[in-house]
Amino acid sequence: MHQDARGHAVTLSNPAALDAYERALHALQTYRGDPTAPLDEAIALDPGFAAAYATKALVLITFFERRFMRLALATLEQGRDALAGATAREQALAAAARRIAEGAWRDGVRTLEGILVEQPRDIVALQVAHLLDFAHGDALNLRNRVSRVLPAWSASVPGYAYVLGMHAFGYEECNQYPDAERAGRRAVELSGNDAWAVHAVSHVMEMQGRVAEGLDWYRQTRDVWASEDNGFAFHNHWHTALFHMDRGDHAAALAIFDERFGGGSEMALMRVDATALLWRLRLEGVDVSARFAAVASEWERALDDGEGGFYAFNDFHAAMALAAAGRSEALARLREALARAQAQPDGNAEMTRSVGLDACEAAIAYCDGRFEAAAERLMAVRDGANRFGGSHAQRDVLTLTLIDAAMRAGMPQLAHHYANERLVHKPESAWGRRLAERIDGWQARRAA
Ligand SMILES: [Fe+2]
Repeated sequence: MHQDARGHAVTLSNPAALDAYERALHALQTYRGDPTAPLDEAIALDPGFAAAYATKALVLITFFERRFMRLALATLEQGRDALAGATAREQALAAAARRIAEGAWRDGVRTLEGILVEQPRDIVALQVAHLLDFAHGDALNLRNRVSRVLPAWSASVPGYAYVLGMHAFGYEECNQYPDAERAGRRAVELSGNDAWAVHAVSHVMEMQGRVAEGLDWYRQTRDVWASEDNGFAFHNHWHTALFHMDRGDHAAALAIFDERFGGGSEMALMRVDATALLWRLRLEGVDVSARFAAVASEWERALDDGEGGFYAFNDFHAAMALAAAGRSEALARLREALARAQAQPDGNAEMTRSVGLDACEAAIAYCDGRFEAAAERLMAVRDGANRFGGSHAQRDVLTLTLIDAAMRAGMPQLAHHYANERLVHKPESAWGRRLAERIDGWQARRAA
């Protein structure tokens, strides 16, 4: 039987397909190029290559949109005959993909974990589970799932650096910043192309308010993450924009928006970042209404395509954009989708119930000028908001909105209360000091 580069038995008859498969895994690990193209190539070379179908389905799932779940199921159907005679590992990869695509997200991740118990070097199972842990905001497993397999890895196993890169991000989301930075820097050194590890180190700098270092880090590692074929580059550009915003350089953040997001995006992952950046700029008093109108139209198209109510984290960003652009009819449709989502027996229902709904209503209330209601909704969900996914840095938008809403509602003590976190955790951050000054200035004007 043939084996892949990590020593796993694979079901195939044409070994030439294995080369295409390894290229797909490299694309997946480095985020460079489309991993589904070499997987299609592998399938064309050997229609009996079971792992290629299962891996393609899992890659599609990581985009976390309803339409890609449908494509994943179609891919599994296409590979049904090949998978029927496949190894237990290949069949388990396919079963995990099916469960996730059908909505049983956590069940699917448990299936991937079952593979890792037997095959701790299964980097497909590991990376897909890692990305789902991210989608679930499961900080402990972002770290611990990687810890559980790490002893089976060493620098001599192809892909080791990417495992360290995942570990770095897990450490960061568990607030273990020195561990995260050490692992992330090592991953970048070893691989020379680990955009996820670059991103993990930038998160450390973001969380510690090391703004100048963050901008330097992104400049130094540009070759690793910023190539045109890097499918994750947009998110590192987004982080760069946040560093500029911390320094009060809104023009630089806007320039990044226009260059990297202004052309629109078919992908929800990108629309989330586009929305989150515009919302922060709006909170800072920058007029981004025309840009918001364009992003809101993209979310409306996604709603038309039935994406509403699929993933609470995306719905929250849709709500921000639609509310900022005053799209009341689309917001009504989003609310209907949220109501349906809560009744679904899938992984998103709990996310929507526990966080998504209040977060969406808070964004709508904020844009309606109902600031006290927005602040109350945000206080209700902020501390458990990891349950609807994303990173600490992404969910910071909840806190920034809460501070601004409390200030505008005439509750300066409440606004300061939450702004204090930033002052303590990010002592070098100018953003935190500006927020504190703004709250005082707002209050002084009200009193005058
Ligand atoms: Fe990030």
